[in-house]
Amino acid sequence: MSFPNVKLCFWLFSCLVGIASAELDPNYYALKCPSVLTIVKGEVTTAVLKEPRMGASLLRLHFHDCFVQGCDASVLLNDTDTFTGEKTAFPNANSLRGFDVIDKIKSKLESDIICAGKVSCADILAIAARDSVVALGGPTWTVGLGRRDSTTASLSAANSDLPAPFLNLDGILTAFANKNFTANETVALSGAHTIGKARCTTFRSRIYDDTNIDSSFATSLKANCPQTGGDDNLSQLDATSENLFDNAYFKNLEKESGLLHSDQELFNGGSTDSIVQTYIDYPSKFMTDFANAMVKMGNLSPLTGNEGQIRTKCYQVNQ
Ligand code: HEM
Ligand SMILES: *[C@@H]1O[C@H](CO)[C@@H](O)[C@H](O)[C@H]1NC(C)=O
Ligand SMILES: *[C@@H]1O[C@H](CO)[C@@H](O)[C@H](O)[C@H]1NC(C)=O
Ligand SMILES: *[C@@H]1O[C@H](CO)[C@@H](O)[C@H](O)[C@H]1NC(C)=O
Ligand SMILES: *[C@@H]1O[C@H](CO)[C@@H](O)[C@H](O)[C@H]1NC(C)=O
Repeated sequence: MSFPNVKLCFWLFSCLVGIASAELDPNYYALKCPSVLTIVKGEVTTAVLKEPRMGASLLRLHFHDCFVQGCDASVLLNDTDTFTGEKTAFPNANSLRGFDVIDKIKSKLESDIICAGKVSCADILAIAARDSVVALGGPTWTVGLGRRDSTTASLSAANSDLPAPFLNLDGILTAFANKNFTANETVALSGAHTIGKARCTTFRSRIYDDTNIDSSFATSLKANCPQTGGDDNLSQLDATSENLFDNAYFKNLEKESGLLHSDQELFNGGSTDSIVQTYIDYPSKFMTDFANAMVKMGNLSPLTGNEGQIRTKCYQVNQ
């Protein structure tokens, strides 16, 4: 035979590539730390029972991790004299929460004789986000695992890559397209605002300056968010069912009752109105699309193999 077996070569090549590839694997910890899913779920469930908003905060942490340098736990790193992290970026400062829950999960894993040194903080964030959504009545999905933790962070990427609440529809779609999300996926992911709270400073111009807002909705918000002062006063992102992962967020948009300017942009006579309408009419389609988009978000440029490290403490690079 003068020609090599093309099929066999191709198969061998795939195998070699497969070994070095950056695929996440839901069974990654089956031998390294078989109890990881139980431990994370236990801590997340406890935290959400104690304070339902924590589910929202943990979901957002994973989003703010993955959109900046990929899902590498860069968001968790504290600033030091010689290191600038992402916590002081505009979208994060005085806003992100849940670090203590992540730290508690991490110390539990580090005190487990089998799991110590095995589980990345980036994977903890991904599992905790899923368990948070489930704890608040939302869909579940299978979390791919095997991410590793960064030794770097990027304040400038946090400021440039995370979407701002003042963006118009084009700006929102561009921010998500930059991470390879379609318009439909962008709308589905934005449905995360069916849980959690926002500070007055993020929606003040919406309630005082926007015209596409229900007037009694705007009035009700102004009491706790005056034109000056009260910057950190909180309001529910979904006024109707704050702690339930349902499709009420989209129903609010239809009533011009989106809290953030960016929320209402998704239903303001533009190209995404029909997607919002679909999620109002078919709540289970929202659940499925959200779950699939979360899997895709969790796959954003993970560090794998020998890249990065497994941090011992999530808030600092190993010494
Ligand atoms: C156009 C896109 C988005 C913008 C402009 C945006 C902006 C914001 C802002 C301004 C807040 C309030 C923060 C504060 O006042 O401290 C917030 C909260 C939140 N965001 Fe987003 N976000 C977007 C997309 C997403 C996505 C894709 C997710 C997750 C998949 C998400 C999850 C959340 C959650 C759960 C909260 C509440 C957090 C809590 O209560 O602690 N957001 N977002
Ligand atoms: C790191 O930052 C968190 C909050 O982001 C804080 O609670 C913690 O005390 C900090 N840890 C150290 C060792 O500085
Ligand atoms: C988006 O897809 C392109 C083409 O496959 C790829 O080069 C790029 O790295 C992806 N971007 C992100 C943020 O994953
Ligand atoms: C902020 O909220 C608190 C508690 O609801 C309220 O007492 C206070 O008046 C608010 N601040 C402003 C400036 O509205
Ligand atoms: C996006 O959503 C719209 C409205 O629900 C739907 O008609 C369209 O088929 C979806 N596009 C894709 C690519 O899934």
